[in-house]
Amino acid sequence: MMNAIELLKQDHDKVKKLLEEISDTTERAFKKRAELLSKIAMELEVHTTLEEEDFYPAFKAAGAKEELKMFHEAKEEHRAVEALVLPDLLDTDPGTVEFSGRIKVLKELLEHHIEEEEEEMFKTAQEIMSAEQLSTLGKQMGEKKVKLMKKAA
Ligand SMILES: [Fe+2]
Ligand SMILES: [Fe+2]
Repeated sequence: MMNAIELLKQDHDKVKKLLEEISDTTERAFKKRAELLSKIAMELEVHTTLEEEDFYPAFKAAGAKEELKMFHEAKEEHRAVEALVLPDLLDTDPGTVEFSGRIKVLKELLEHHIEEEEEEMFKTAQEIMSAEQLSTLGKQMGEKKVKLMKKAA
């Protein structure tokens, strides 16, 4: 059984791998690119929902002003990806260099976001939330993840 942080980190590793994979493709592999992008979009949707509905609120409630700032920063980064970068990418022909450029931006944004979550938010969470709370939250998120994945598939 994974706690909340382990669960989120496992998602991060999966998305990072998919981003490496799609970055390694060329314009000629447009079918593979479209396939990988829809996988990335689905993984992100589920992951972001779990963070915004479950993990972030618990983190915010356990913390003070500094944690509140981290919470708003992370949400703003989600919004940049969800409202701007990802919709543009889904609307871009995967056989073009424009797509390659946009993938690079998505990868950089997400790697930055993931690093900040893991190095700042999750580390702080381990200090301000109890092991029991993190494991209860992990269980709840794991169950919700199964449902969200089914819905997104
Ligand atoms: Fe996030
Ligand atoms: Fe995350």
